[in-house]
Amino acid sequence: MAQDTIAILGGTGDQGLGLALRFAKAGRRVVIGSRKSERAVEAAEQVRKQVAQAQVEGLENADAVIGAPIVILSVPFEHTAGTVKALKDKLVAGQIVVSMGVPLATAIGDGAVRTLGVWQGSCAEMVEALVPKGVHVVSAFQNVSAHRLQHLEHPVECDVLVSGPKEPRERVMALCGLVPGLRAVDGGPLANARIVEAITALLIGLNIRYNVSDGVGVRFTGLPQS
Ligand SMILES: NC(=O)c1ccc[n+]([C@@H]2O[C@H](COP(=O)([O-])OP(=O)(O)OC[C@H]3O[C@@H](n4cnc5c(N)ncnc54)[C@H](OP(=O)(O)O)[C@@H]3O)[C@@H](O)[C@H]2O)c1
Repeated sequence: MAQDTIAILGGTGDQGLGLALRFAKAGRRVVIGSRKSERAVEAAEQVRKQVAQAQVEGLENADAVIGAPIVILSVPFEHTAGTVKALKDKLVAGQIVVSMGVPLATAIGDGAVRTLGVWQGSCAEMVEALVPKGVHVVSAFQNVSAHRLQHLEHPVECDVLVSGPKEPRERVMALCGLVPGLRAVDGGPLANARIVEAITALLIGLNIRYNVSDGVGVRFTGLPQS
């Protein structure tokens, strides 16, 4: 596997494209996944327009995961299980799947300021229950705003709680260091994704009450400097 490749499934959407731009700008090879290869190719072109030296390509989701040590799931919560089931035969032991999804109540036609109960505890734990044995699931990036990610000229200014098994968690924490203004915070075991995912609904409510179009982020104080 090319150690530096990051595949982003649903990378044609706001959040995935934002991460693609940031990782490409940092010099990492990015593969944008989509249900339709033409959409993936178009998104890759958008990245190249903004990041001249980008190493980026667009492929169908099932092809995008092949050979990528880190696969970020960037599809709405309600399509997460279907997306993982459709390509799980392509996932191999040792790969890291990053769950970024939030079970917002929009999935059932209710508001984005509330979350739904998920049987497994969180979107990330649902993903963990679906991937083949030996594939590691890490939860991250749920509290980062797509708008801030896409404004390449500005630092993102947000802490990222990263949860999951230790070694893969540390590898995903290292990704945060590639993006100016993002700071990885050790979020412990994957079960803590329940708390992190719920924070996103709170942030959406803050965006509305304070009229913040770029998106509110989180910062933890008192942590030692890493
Ligand atoms: N937007 C934010 O600010 C933000 C912040 C934090 C976390 N997140 C999380 O990040 C994830 C992506 O957010 P987003 O705003 O980028 O979402 P989005 O734009 O609504 O969707 C992302 C991509 O999902 C794919 N998709 C749509 N319907 C699908 C279906 N039925 N089956 C499979 N794939 C489907 C689409 O890709 P193709 O049509 O190309 O396949 C789409 O471009 C979500 O889980 C969200 O909770 C978002």
